[in-house]
Amino acid sequence: MVRNLPSIKSILPRSFFGRAVLIVVVPILLLQIVLSVVFVQRHYERVTQQMTGSMLDVVSVELSRLDALSASALDQAGTSDLAQAVGLDMKMSVLVPADVEDGVAWYDLAGREILTVLRDAVPGYQVAMLRTDPDRAVVWALTRHGPVQVSIPRNRLAPTNPHQLLVLVFVASLILVLIALQYLRLQIRPIRRLGAAAEAYGRGQSVPVRAGGAREIRAAALAFVDMRNRIERQNAQRKLMLSGLGHDMRTPLTRMRLMLSMAEPSDDRDALETEITGLEKLLDGFLDYARGEEPAGQGPVDPVQVVSDLVARYRNAGRPVALEMAADLPDSLWLRDGQLDRALDNILGNALEYGTRAHVCVAAQQDKLTIAIEDDGPGIAPEDRARACEPFVRLDKSRNQNAGVHVGLGLAIAMNMARTHGGQLGLTDGVTLGGLRVVLTLPVDPPPDALSSARVS
Ligand SMILES: Nc1ncnc2c1ncn2[C@@H]1O[C@H](COP(=O)(O)OP(=O)(O)O)[C@@H](O)[C@H]1O
Ligand SMILES: [Mg+2]
Repeated sequence: MVRNLPSIKSILPRSFFGRAVLIVVVPILLLQIVLSVVFVQRHYERVTQQMTGSMLDVVSVELSRLDALSASALDQAGTSDLAQAVGLDMKMSVLVPADVEDGVAWYDLAGREILTVLRDAVPGYQVAMLRTDPDRAVVWALTRHGPVQVSIPRNRLAPTNPHQLLVLVFVASLILVLIALQYLRLQIRPIRRLGAAAEAYGRGQSVPVRAGGAREIRAAALAFVDMRNRIERQNAQRKLMLSGLGHDMRTPLTRMRLMLSMAEPSDDRDALETEITGLEKLLDGFLDYARGEEPAGQGPVDPVQVVSDLVARYRNAGRPVALEMAADLPDSLWLRDGQLDRALDNILGNALEYGTRAHVCVAAQQDKLTIAIEDDGPGIAPEDRARACEPFVRLDKSRNQNAGVHVGLGLAIAMNMARTHGGQLGLTDGVTLGGLRVVLTLPVDPPPDALSSARVS
């Protein structure tokens, strides 16, 4: 087997446009080649043979007329009417010049054919020259009275300008290909746009899709928009449900807490109170998650202040959190109320829950603010990272038995926060502490429509 030959697939262009070009250009190219070979080789050769053949009939007649004349009559003979009519020019006693041999220019396809026919059909043929004068073929022949030079007009021997047709066909196909390419580009544009919209949706942005192009492409675009709307409706419903649940259960919980506070102090009462606190936190999570969608409450937020406060809170509770802040940080971001604190709290809470200490690093690059939180815990395997950010996903239930508060919304809330503000949430391997590193990136100057067009899931 020949293994190192590239497969056909690897040679083929990868893009749709490239393949379409191939589909258009290759047949035209093949057609050109076939046309050139068949038409020129066969049609022109045959036409040339026929034309030269009939012209040579005249030449033969003239030559035999000369042969028949007596030497004395030769001088007054002149050219016959027939020879004059076809433009024949005959000169007696012109010797073949010493340096002349059969000659045709390399590009003169018809000339080669003419030469073959001349050689075979001219009586007393000596030499023919088709190179010196493009309009005439000159033949030397031997008659009874000595050599004669016959000059024949080229347009009587072969069709003139045989390449004209080829040039015409080439130019025509070039124009056709250009038109086809332009058309293809227009056809591919809606596919590209749909791809871009799907990709943007994957990143959480809902860009408008205009259905255009061929019927199938238009149908795909409409199906995509349909699907996106459905997903968005479902998300909205889920959030509505969660927020309703959160609100409705809060009242009975508050009542229970009140009733408990009036009961006799006991271990059971303390345990129940802890449970109630857990449930309240859970409901807070629901509400936080559902609230991610609400457009209201945007305002300038000082990220440095938020991070410092958060870290201070954890330090006061005795948790080991290191803080590293760059010098030239922006002093305000346009964010929704309390969402940055909520997101960072979730991430830092995770870090200290799955690890023992955390490291927070705030930096600014060009138009972005990055807040990286790292821990010394077990981290998350790369293949599980995307899933960990989905709502209601908990990777390892046995890792944390303290269920109640843990429904797997922490990272999802942080991810939503990032997306609704035109930013990103990335999970990587830790650099300094070796556990998980969660990086929240926010645009320093978010485009005004980033807030409204972002999707929340
Ligand atoms: N810092 C971390 N180290 C290791 N695993 C983590 C870390 N943060 C999150 N995870 C994993 O990701 C899952 C989802 O996290 P999260 O959304 O905060 O939900 P929850 O904390 O409620 O389980 C967690 O169940 C946990 O398995
Ligand atoms: Mg968590």
